[in-house]
Amino acid sequence: MADRRDRSFGHCRGRTKAAEIATPKALLMNRKKLSTRMGDPETPPRVTRAMVRDGWNQLSMLYRPPGATRFPTGHTDRLYGVWLAPIMKELPKGAPVLDLGCGCGVPATRILARRFQVTGVDLSDVQIARARELVPSARFRRSDMSRVRFPPGSFQAVVSFYAIFHLPLKEQYPLLKRIYRWLTPGGYFVAILGAGRYKGVDKGWLGSDTWMYWDHVDADTYQRWLEKIGFVVELSAFVPEKGSGGHQLFRLRRPSDSSPSPRRHREQ
Ligand SMILES: C[S@@+](CC[C@H](N)C(=O)[O-])C[C@H]1O[C@@H](n2cnc3c(N)ncnc32)[C@H](O)[C@@H]1O
Repeated sequence: MADRRDRSFGHCRGRTKAAEIATPKALLMNRKKLSTRMGDPETPPRVTRAMVRDGWNQLSMLYRPPGATRFPTGHTDRLYGVWLAPIMKELPKGAPVLDLGCGCGVPATRILARRFQVTGVDLSDVQIARARELVPSARFRRSDMSRVRFPPGSFQAVVSFYAIFHLPLKEQYPLLKRIYRWLTPGGYFVAILGAGRYKGVDKGWLGSDTWMYWDHVDADTYQRWLEKIGFVVELSAFVPEKGSGGHQLFRLRRPSDSSPSPRRHREQ
């Protein structure tokens, strides 16, 4: 298996079969070290969460260098603009929009905040501190996206780019269900999720000395989950990354004739 340090970014392994669950060489090699550092070789959720939070605290500046519009993954400000274009065009000015795993707010939150009332949520203190400076017109919460709760029908769009796969897989389906309920009927969900099955812990992205954790299913499985929840899939497209591999872009809608969620004012 390729060492992730050869890659510009992350764990993306393209379209592997659902049954292929990779165990990174780095994890095997560093298992003893990891168990000493993290306290448990099976890396339970509280440990992976701390790994992800501390990792993003360290990676923020490398991933989004100040002033850059082209990023180490090969993506650009402009590409995010293309992904967001349908909601920028369709939704009314001032519409409430949520960015889950917003990072430092650049570029997605910043683009959205030109037109909408945006709430950004991120686990990393550094990412949120930068986001508050870089996108002063948006509101931010330093929270775990698996724990945040909003009343049903709170948002006309939810976006989440390259973030949900940092949660353990068993927490992802319940989160996707909550996202559906947070949307108004007709609302959009635009997300980058995994394209191939992968689960692992690894170290050394972007030349850093940082641990990171990923867990995701393949694009077909995500699509099945999303449709089961009730989303209509408007777009599912593979997004390649610099180096090799890539992830899956989904543009989804909650049907406009879906009944508003019950208990409207209770946070879910
Ligand atoms: C790859 S970055 C993507 C940032 C931004 N969405 C973008 O595309 O530029 C992933 C972000 O997800 C955040 N994240 C990971 N796990 C999270 C969690 N459980 N709750 C909230 N944010 C999380 C990380 O802190 C990090 O800022």
